[in-house]
Amino acid sequence: MPQGEQKARESWGTRFGFIMAAAGSAIGLGNIWRFPYLTGMNGGGAFIVIYLGCVLFVGLSIMLGEFVVGRGTGLASVGAFKSRHRNWTFVGVLGVISSFFIYCFYPVVGGWAVAYMVKSLTGLLSNPGAIADYFGAFITAPLEPVIWTLIFLAVNLFVVAKGVSGGIELTSKILMPMLFGLLVIIIIKSLSLPGSGAGLTFLFKPDWSVVTGKTFLAALGQAFFSLSLGMGVMITYGSYLKKDEHLPSDALTVVSMDTLAAILAGIAIFPALFAFGVEPTAGTGLVFVVVPQVFAQMGGIGVLFSFVFFLALAIAALTSSVGLLETVVAYFMDEKGMSRKKATYISSAVTTVICILSSLSLGVMSGFSVFGVGVFDFFDILTDKIFLAIGGMCLAIYVGWVLNKEEVKLEATNRGALPFALFETWYAVIKYVIPVLVAVVAVSGIMAIEQQSLMIFGVVVIGVLALFSKKL
Ligand code: PFF
Repeated sequence: MPQGEQKARESWGTRFGFIMAAAGSAIGLGNIWRFPYLTGMNGGGAFIVIYLGCVLFVGLSIMLGEFVVGRGTGLASVGAFKSRHRNWTFVGVLGVISSFFIYCFYPVVGGWAVAYMVKSLTGLLSNPGAIADYFGAFITAPLEPVIWTLIFLAVNLFVVAKGVSGGIELTSKILMPMLFGLLVIIIIKSLSLPGSGAGLTFLFKPDWSVVTGKTFLAALGQAFFSLSLGMGVMITYGSYLKKDEHLPSDALTVVSMDTLAAILAGIAIFPALFAFGVEPTAGTGLVFVVVPQVFAQMGGIGVLFSFVFFLALAIAALTSSVGLLETVVAYFMDEKGMSRKKATYISSAVTTVICILSSLSLGVMSGFSVFGVGVFDFFDILTDKIFLAIGGMCLAIYVGWVLNKEEVKLEATNRGALPFALFETWYAVIKYVIPVLVAVVAVSGIMAIEQQSLMIFGVVVIGVLALFSKKL
């Protein structure tokens, strides 16, 4: 419960505002960049069906768990655990570290999105044959991508410094509806192209022959990343919720919006790819290479659509990255008593330096490696392959086995004032099913890391946190 001596805590202004902010955190590069390429590489419709299962069964349950923990204590990631069960503080710390680490490379890609938005209007598409090489040259250059990253970081700083309702909520309320509108514009264009039907078939007709155990792992991992789970963000956002919010329906709304955005991104991209006879399995380069190539083939109007597409991508990235920064900032405010401005400036200063290194690690600093990989990949692999799944698993264990069941029920139903017919089902899933399922994902994710030293480092970090974070 909130500590007595606390100052009045910030809160969301309206339910709509909170939903837009939480959906804004969830809907990001993961939906528009990662989901389409994972779908392309994992057999289209079959992947989507499995992904939907993961989202509904696992993602939704954990999101509700995070809201319960956050609002129940009224404290952000670390305090939420520390104030109740000191031994579990490490889960909160792991969340803040994950958010911090993701914030050390995610803004680099956000910067690319902003750059491509501007470049769409200034000749990027004029030579379709050169687009692939251009992307390679752009991200490895020493200066230009760094400048775009700095611009992107500055906007984040500005939004988070303005606070929960005056910054994050306001920005999300404006940008999220805009994002959906932009996606719809691209979908209309994409579906109007001759031959686009094959793209829809690819997306919605499952090809089960390509499904393997790896497909399930990819789908569950993507569900975690896409829903911003296991890294303290939803606990932090939940901590700003008022006591009359209905947590189960909020979680369902946010999860549905995130899934809708991913599917809309798929419908925007695949029909156009098929219409122009481009392979859907391009992998990470899909959004920055293949998509501009497709727009280039549309003639003059393609310039406009390309701009709209990268504007949508930049918006999605921004509303997600502010959640990461907020999680780190909220830690300093709750636990170290810092003012919002000071916490924002300090966190931004540190992450800016690391983001610059991340950007440079793709080019001039590519020879410099940490545990066998470049700086950018270091943060990406550590969070994606180790921290998120472990964080999600620990959260499920904490809600199911450590917190008192009655108390969880009271929080999820607003002291019994609101119905939650599926409480018992949800509770059983989070207590028995999710820890096992996610443990499998965590272990296979960790085993899949090629650099042994990095794998050991990640596991040791978690061990050290588990032992010592109580003291933080
Ligand atoms: N959910 C975001 C996406 O799909 O791009 C990524 C992300 C944002 C993860 C914020 C975690 C987070 F805290």
